[in-house]
Amino acid sequence: MTALNLSNICKSFGKVEVLRDISLTVEEGEFVVFVGPSGCGKSTLLRVIAGLEDATAGTVEIAGERVNDVPPAKRGIAMVFQTYALYPHLTVRGNMALGLKQEGQAKDVIEARIAEAARMLHLEPYLERRPAELSGGQRQRVAIGRAVVREPELFLFDEPLSNLDAALRMNTRIEIADLHRKLGATMIYVTHDQIEAMTLADRIVVLRNGIVEQVGSPMELYNDPVNRFVAGFLGAPSMNFLPGHVLGKAAEEAGIRPENLRIEESGQLAAEVTHVEHLGGDTNVLVRIESGEILTLRLFGQHAHAVGDSVQVGFDERDVYLFDKDGARLR
Ligand SMILES: Nc1ncnc2c1ncn2[C@@H]1O[C@H](COP(=O)(O)OP(=O)(O)O)[C@@H](O)[C@H]1O
Ligand SMILES: [Mg+2]
Repeated sequence: MTALNLSNICKSFGKVEVLRDISLTVEEGEFVVFVGPSGCGKSTLLRVIAGLEDATAGTVEIAGERVNDVPPAKRGIAMVFQTYALYPHLTVRGNMALGLKQEGQAKDVIEARIAEAARMLHLEPYLERRPAELSGGQRQRVAIGRAVVREPELFLFDEPLSNLDAALRMNTRIEIADLHRKLGATMIYVTHDQIEAMTLADRIVVLRNGIVEQVGSPMELYNDPVNRFVAGFLGAPSMNFLPGHVLGKAAEEAGIRPENLRIEESGQLAAEVTHVEHLGGDTNVLVRIESGEILTLRLFGQHAHAVGDSVQVGFDERDVYLFDKDGARLR
């Protein structure tokens, strides 16, 4: 069944168009990530789905029902924000219970749902604590738990990991993926972080300036981007771009990913090493080729290249992407 259907959604604030003609269908149980640079309209689109903003034009349907005129509390959604938005004077249990009490759920139902969510999110030891007595990661798990107990049709996450440090971000990311597997629920997740998008999504929606650039599975988008923007946005370090003629191509621009470049004696491009990043498991090597462009190579493992070394950079023709002057993909 279709969990969410957006048809021709537009949103303006005064004269400023923030969302332009967005149409998208999300199937039940899917994990869909909206990704794009800051300011591209991700949160606004999520808020339109939640009913926290009205669309200027277009239709929002949840589980087959048009909800444009249905208030947020009646849409069957639960939202998790970057800032947790917990009540400081309530315990973890109190925070998780509040929405259910407001819905008028019976006491034993509330208790059972909190117990189940606390178990799933490893919050059992903290149920009687207040938010101030928890770490950032624990607070965010409470915010997620508060959404879980509502048993919504649709989970909406807005950059839930952005306030966490790198190690905790990875742990919490895995917990969210795990939660999605266990619940089989439909989730829509907003982030500016391409790694979160790549690792969590069944399907990624890439947004730029309020427009959908491409929709597809992480590997479809990585391997087959429709344009330069998507090609450059997904992948870290990001794709190298250089004038097509440098690689002997008629196209305006050519792109090649850092992992598809290598240093080898028979390499096609003469270059000088300008910078080396030793990451332990990987080595990023920056080189300047004869035409002046800087390329980034991502080499697996540890390598002894040093700044100033003369090297030859090799690549396979089939790994080269070609773009026209408007950034559309040619090949
Ligand atoms: N209430 C508002 N009034 C006016 N402009 C807004 C409002 N909310 C968001 N915007 C503008 O809409 C654009 C998209 O914002 P947002 O959806 O928050 O982007 P993102 O979440 O992708 O960073 C931004 O340019 C922002 O300044
Ligand atoms: Mg946002």
